[in-house]
Amino acid sequence: MAATVRRQRPRRLLCWALVAVLLADLLALSDTLAVMSVDLGSESMKVAIVKPGVPMEIVLNKESRRKTPVTVTLKENERFLGDSAAGMAIKNPKATLRYFQHLLGKQADNPHVALYRSRFPEHELIVDPQRQTVRFQISPQLQFSPEEVLGMVLNYSRSLAEDFAGYLAPRI
Ligand SMILES: *[C@@H]1O[C@H](CO)[C@@H](O)[C@H](O)[C@H]1NC(C)=O
Repeated sequence: MAATVRRQRPRRLLCWALVAVLLADLLALSDTLAVMSVDLGSESMKVAIVKPGVPMEIVLNKESRRKTPVTVTLKENERFLGDSAAGMAIKNPKATLRYFQHLLGKQADNPHVALYRSRFPEHELIVDPQRQTVRFQISPQLQFSPEEVLGMVLNYSRSLAEDFAGYLAPRI
């Protein structure tokens, strides 16, 4: 009996060491592991953070609001997003993009594109020769596809979550 115990001890120790390492890993992971969700509407979005063991938190933006306008103002050297972009809509109608999700992946002859042109005549839409989709022509130098604009909004949603949570999420 005694011989068996002695023989098992090193193996058991190894097991406990492994469990301890795994636990430490898990604990370290749960400290940093968080998932953000974006409720993306055509006018505004809401961002939330989900962490293990913590109820879902709604992210407040810089204006301490839950809703952030899905609006982007694109200038030659500057980009404005959310509330600051919405505030520029009147002075910069051509450069301030809203409701662009209606154009995602749509070819130029899609009825949604005609509807968008009639609702927002301030925007110049040009046809991408390769994809036959539309792009915003903001100035002679500046062109963006609706997909690029959406990418900016999603990137911004992450920065809202990061600022709110006070840490940096891994970049992909
Ligand atoms: C994404 O947002 C960060 C700020 O949070 C900014 O530094 C970065 O340039 C943005 N990336 C793109 C591709 O726009």
